[in-house]
Amino acid sequence: GAFEQPRAVAEAIQPHIDLSNFTVAMSGVGFDTKKVFGEIERIFIVACGSSYYTALVGEYMIERLARIPVECDIASEFRYRYPVFPKNSLLISISQSGETADTLAAVRLAKAAGVKVLSICNVRNSSIDREADGHLYMNAGTEVGVASTKAFSATLALLNLLSLATAQAKGKLTVIEEADYVRQLQAAPAQIETVLNLDKFFKKAASTLKEFKGFLYLGRNVHYPIALEGALKLKELAYMHAEGYAAGEMKHGPLALIDKNMAVVMLAPRDELFEKSLSNLEEAKARGGQVISIGTGANARLEQISNHYLVLPEAGWFTLP
Ligand code: F6R
Repeated sequence: GAFEQPRAVAEAIQPHIDLSNFTVAMSGVGFDTKKVFGEIERIFIVACGSSYYTALVGEYMIERLARIPVECDIASEFRYRYPVFPKNSLLISISQSGETADTLAAVRLAKAAGVKVLSICNVRNSSIDREADGHLYMNAGTEVGVASTKAFSATLALLNLLSLATAQAKGKLTVIEEADYVRQLQAAPAQIETVLNLDKFFKKAASTLKEFKGFLYLGRNVHYPIALEGALKLKELAYMHAEGYAAGEMKHGPLALIDKNMAVVMLAPRDELFEKSLSNLEEAKARGGQVISIGTGANARLEQISNHYLVLPEAGWFTLP
């Protein structure tokens, strides 16, 4: 069903958090996460499609909290690019099905080079799951639709946990910070529910947008990969042309395409990059573009510049994606 995401996220995180003290306690992974995460100096994340976009969000989270360099690759590129694995590397594969051939090949390549592999997967005992050294499960239930939805959200939640567990192992997280992040994560399922209940907004926006010839999805930081995912979902489900870009790249080419037939979908939560996103919207508007923005809280300036403004529940960078 369409509204399974809150439950999927709750079930992905449940095995790995201790609610008595709001700590992350990675369990059932198959290796000693404290030891392995404490030793690693480089993380590679490989995946395809939507799973690759979750990888990009994971890169922002892990680098920000754990200060370990992370490199993300599309599996079909990685496997043929003769990658270099420095010592103490960990490869994380992300695959809902656990059967994507390129991702499996990337896992095999890493294993052959002696690199430890942690799989994030939905299907237990799938090919990738069987070959990995460590396992995190989305617990999202069977993905029936062609387009990944609940598995996407469940994966983001696991990457939240992974960023906390690696930060913890590297001594980069105080007990107070950890508890705060765990509380934020714990609050996410109810917030997702709130967003899903805004279906009236979506119906109204969709009815005015269906005539457009194209959509440009923009975001910054953790919201940039979400913009990529938004564009992919529109292509797959509405058969409409959409592109995702880092908002800062708008002026480096795609601006030329913006006119009254083009909608700009801006992910613009109130954060330290908000003013930059707002100025992107001013440029888009000046060229006649339609603006759909997604933000947090009442925001008069954003509302004023937008044809449609979707308000998300207040949340920080960690869980907004
Ligand atoms: C998009 C979608 C695909 C998959 C991709 C990888 O909605 O579902 O892009 O994300 O084919 O699949 P998995 O995660 O099974 O390896």
